[in-house]
Amino acid sequence: MEIIIAKSAGFCFGVKRAVDKVYEEISNNQGQQIYTYGPIIHNEEVVNDLENKGVKVINSKEELRQIKEGIVVIRSHGVEKEIYDIIEENKLKIVDATCPFVKKIHNIVVKEKNNGRHIVIIGNDNHPEVEGIKGWAESDYTVVSNDEEAEKFDISKEKKICIVSQTTFNYNKFKYLVENISKKGYDIIVLNTICNATNERQTEARDIASRVDAMIVIGGKHSSNTQKLYDICKQECNLTYYIQTIDDLDLSKLQSVSCVGITAGASTPNNIIEEVHTNVRIKF
Ligand code: F3S
Repeated sequence: MEIIIAKSAGFCFGVKRAVDKVYEEISNNQGQQIYTYGPIIHNEEVVNDLENKGVKVINSKEELRQIKEGIVVIRSHGVEKEIYDIIEENKLKIVDATCPFVKKIHNIVVKEKNNGRHIVIIGNDNHPEVEGIKGWAESDYTVVSNDEEAEKFDISKEKKICIVSQTTFNYNKFKYLVENISKKGYDIIVLNTICNATNERQTEARDIASRVDAMIVIGGKHSSNTQKLYDICKQECNLTYYIQTIDDLDLSKLQSVSCVGITAGASTPNNIIEEVHTNVRIKF
């Protein structure tokens, strides 16, 4: 049986970098308390593994304020400036694993805010990445996530604006919302800050699914990006299976196929992908 594994399966560059940094800190700082500000990734196995190695998750600013010793890792989503300030005030060591693509947005927002522009963030208001961006824009921002909010957008026409996007936002939706706001006649600069990782993963999954007899999509039950990958693959390949781990896969279903594709959502660790790959290979 031929097995094709998507090169873009699993962690994107930014998430991989952040997870690696936590493991690095563990091995370099035995005996010191390591924290992550928020779970490093939406994957229970990884978070539990880190917990077993002594890493604690800080869930709020209030919790962070109480901590006076240790190492705090900032995850790939990034955080607002206030979090850096608290870490500094409390004399904690910071390991900043903010994805460079997110950091770039923070820098744009600070620069354009200082140039007097009102910041429009196209994204989902309660997403941690957007929370962080908002913090750098201070109070002069609007978050727009849908048509209705774009329609409602109405600030003084004197004000210049700068539009950025959450890195994982859908490009077509972004374009559409930007067009909607542009019609209002403001002096606008638009920076498309969408990251390609999601798009590349989806494009590759579609391509592989169209060439194989069966497709395996690995990811958490509640992972929306894995669900999306599954939908894309299912459109191309009727025998598409959505699994969390190898235990969910009924290998007998693959008995009569000659070519299988494997992809995985953004928070699926490599060892889980490898385990599925190895089991399929051994069996056939
Ligand atoms: Fe990942 Fe960074 Fe893009 S975290 S999705 S590589 S913005």
